[in-house]
Amino acid sequence: MEKKILITGVAGFIGSNLALYLAHGGRSEESREHFEVIGIDNLSYGLRDNVPPQVNFHELDIRSEEIFDLFHGVDTVFHLAAKNCISDCQLDPVETADVNVTGTVNVFEAARRAKIRKIVYAESSALYEGSRLFPTPEEENKPESFYAVSKLSSRSFAQAYRRYYGMTFTALRYFCVYGPVQDYRRTIPPVMSAFIIKLLKGEPPIIYGTGTKRRDFVYVDDVTEFHLKCLIDPRTDNKTFNLGSGTNHSVLEIYEIISALLGKRIEPLLRPDLPGEAEATLADISEARKLGWAPKTDLKSGLLKAIEYIKGEMEKGRIP
Ligand SMILES: NC(=O)c1ccc[n+]([C@@H]2O[C@H](COP(=O)([O-])OP(=O)(O)OC[C@H]3O[C@@H](n4cnc5c(N)ncnc54)[C@H](O)[C@@H]3O)[C@@H](O)[C@H]2O)c1
Repeated sequence: MEKKILITGVAGFIGSNLALYLAHGGRSEESREHFEVIGIDNLSYGLRDNVPPQVNFHELDIRSEEIFDLFHGVDTVFHLAAKNCISDCQLDPVETADVNVTGTVNVFEAARRAKIRKIVYAESSALYEGSRLFPTPEEENKPESFYAVSKLSSRSFAQAYRRYYGMTFTALRYFCVYGPVQDYRRTIPPVMSAFIIKLLKGEPPIIYGTGTKRRDFVYVDDVTEFHLKCLIDPRTDNKTFNLGSGTNHSVLEIYEIISALLGKRIEPLLRPDLPGEAEATLADISEARKLGWAPKTDLKSGLLKAIEYIKGEMEKGRIP
């Protein structure tokens, strides 16, 4: 049977990987289904080229009423569009709220009117910014930055839509997802992409702060695998899941691993700490594990794939 799936943020990192996965019928043994994928993105961060050709793509803003018609007949919505760079969000709290809260409510409303079976939406490990409990379980809500507060607000709206309209949700708290298609074009790119690009170009990588901050990194295919569970496993309904690896690495450790994989060593430049960044993240992934999910990709294999992707982008002349 063909299921109609709608993805917001489809031109972005996680959305395009998910779209590719669904376009190929899902790579998991659990799925033999075919999916029709509708994608929405305003291309504010994502690239049109990231969207697989099988996707029925619409260049639209999630805050627009024009998205409403696209929800008819859809089985499940993956709502991934967001303004999501913490430092950008710190500089513009108004736009952060507009996209991440108003935009999210518009998506929920479109789904309500179209009587969508289920919405899977992105929260973030940023909700644990103020927590000192490691590994962090899903009950722990301590957002601090404007980005994290916007994600908590979308959670509150999801709960109100559940309370008043009986809608079904799965909330996904991604930790640091990495891998091919991760956005490297931001002013301050994600740490792994930034190190790979600088080392490949023969320039010194930049470390903000002392490099001792620790992050839980999870490979994008492992996250995508969990998305499929959300489509077919009713135990994911109305629950929140941490999606991380359950281990963490310091920024300096990541630098050392990438430097060894590339066989290049250039002394990093230290710059002042970025605002709003937590000291550490570490996921308690026992809830996701109970459903039979586990991260399968080890850091080195994942990084090799990320390196391969960035080398390909450089060969295409996309990275100046
Ligand atoms: N990547 C991670 O490590 C991570 C960690 C925690 C949470 N998340 C969350 O997961 C989701 C996906 O993250 P990602 O890494 O793929 O981000 P991304 O920036 O690569 O993708 C987000 C996409 O949303 C689009 N978008 C932004 N504003 C929009 C708007 N108003 N209307 C339509 N489209 C809009 C962007 O153009 C982009 O293509 C986001 O909600 C993010 O907050 C990601």
